[in-house]
Amino acid sequence: MASTSTQNIPNGLDLKNVVKASQILSGEIVLNRLLKKMMHILLENTGAKKGFLLLPQQDNWIIEVEGYIDSVGITVLQSIAIEASKRVSVNIIHHVARTLKNVILHNAVEKGDFTHDPHIVQYCPKSVLCTPLINQGKLIGILYLENKSTANVFTSDRLEILNLLFSQITISIENALIHAKLESKIKESTHTIEVQKKKLKIQKKELEVTLRQLQSVQTNLMESKKMASLGNLVAGVAHEINTPVGIGVTGASQLEVITKELVQLFSTQRMKRSDLQKYLDSAEKISNLILRNLNRAAELVQSFKQVAVDQATEQRRRFMLKKYLNEVILSLKPKLKGTQYHIIIECDEDIVLFSYPGFFYQIIINFVVNSLIHGFQEKGEGQMIINISPKEKETLILRYSDNGKGMSQEVAKNIFEPFFTTNRHGSGTGLGLHIVYNLVVHELNGTINCESVEGKGTMFIIEFPYSS
Ligand SMILES: Nc1ncnc2c1ncn2[C@@H]1O[C@H](COP(=O)(O)OP(=O)(O)O)[C@@H](O)[C@H]1O
Ligand SMILES: [Mg+2]
Repeated sequence: MASTSTQNIPNGLDLKNVVKASQILSGEIVLNRLLKKMMHILLENTGAKKGFLLLPQQDNWIIEVEGYIDSVGITVLQSIAIEASKRVSVNIIHHVARTLKNVILHNAVEKGDFTHDPHIVQYCPKSVLCTPLINQGKLIGILYLENKSTANVFTSDRLEILNLLFSQITISIENALIHAKLESKIKESTHTIEVQKKKLKIQKKELEVTLRQLQSVQTNLMESKKMASLGNLVAGVAHEINTPVGIGVTGASQLEVITKELVQLFSTQRMKRSDLQKYLDSAEKISNLILRNLNRAAELVQSFKQVAVDQATEQRRRFMLKKYLNEVILSLKPKLKGTQYHIIIECDEDIVLFSYPGFFYQIIINFVVNSLIHGFQEKGEGQMIINISPKEKETLILRYSDNGKGMSQEVAKNIFEPFFTTNRHGSGTGLGLHIVYNLVVHELNGTINCESVEGKGTMFIIEFPYSS
């Protein structure tokens, strides 16, 4: 940006101009624009034909603005070291930096302390003004102004007014430097944030990949766990069925033996009436034993069929939960008739589920039968409560509780295991709660927990997502 001033020494330098210039400078906060404007003002108002602003850098001074009144114009922020530049008197600048006082030369080649200065000798400037820019006692920069052809440019009158301008320059530069520093800090942190953001994005992607891998591992695990538990189940069923079938086989062979014996006696006409009587007694006992054991085997097969819940046999449908629970309880009426066992249902009338009602049937039946057989074993009375409460928008909690005899922690730990029963010699198969567990976890995608206190009762808490 070239200055267009053609005057050697501006005449109009007065307070008015300085105030105007100050206003211009104080309105500029961006360093490179400020420096340009400043140099422009200096060249127009001081009588200098070239001017430099030097800023400290480490232990040296560098030229950050140079301005020429002729066509070269003004360049800023080139950061040229003063020694290398050969454009200013290095001695004068160091002198000003050291003494913090102006150096004013009216005829530099002939008068003053710098007549032998290499720069002065080489370039022969007539007027030189070098002034420190001091803010709150701190040297923040140095202005160096020269007029090569005219002597006595920087008179003391002129300087008085110029000092006002220099003060404004000092403050404006200080502000702009702070601003630039802040801006670079902001840029730096913005950059850091950007870098971190990118890193986070990459990490997020990696996490997503890992998560997907984990999910597939989990699915596989679940599958193999299912297979394992199915294997256990089959082994268990085989083992359980073996006993009654074995007893049945023994009984049947025994029956065969005694029948053959009787036939033998009969065919040789040696059979006595007492033989027949003895045979009939044994045959009745043995067939009884066979029947009981075959029934037991049939029961086990029935339970096993329930474990492998056959989804195909049931349709998913929309049903009113409370109404359905009432129907379930109704089907239990014959069992409860004439007893002191009561079932209470606490459920909102208008909860509608889109699900498999049969699952709920099996779950409730197993709970109730267990309460009757295990919970109220030695008591003649008891109460069962089925409580349904919504948890969040799409989750229901089903709490089933009885006030029976409860169970020990040891028992409670195992109740969901297949074939775990404390009633092996009665009719227990140990499959009931295992079936319930499978229904809740695998079919309803829910969770089931049991809280039981010996002597007080048992509660099962089922949470499952639902849609209507
Ligand atoms: N309401 C209850 N009160 C006390 N004990 C219970 C209750 N429900 C279940 N149990 C215990 O859990 C065991 C496992 O139950 P379950 O799987 O239904 O098998 P089963 O009824 O054939 O024994 C029972 O043998 C019993 O010890
Ligand atoms: Mg049971």
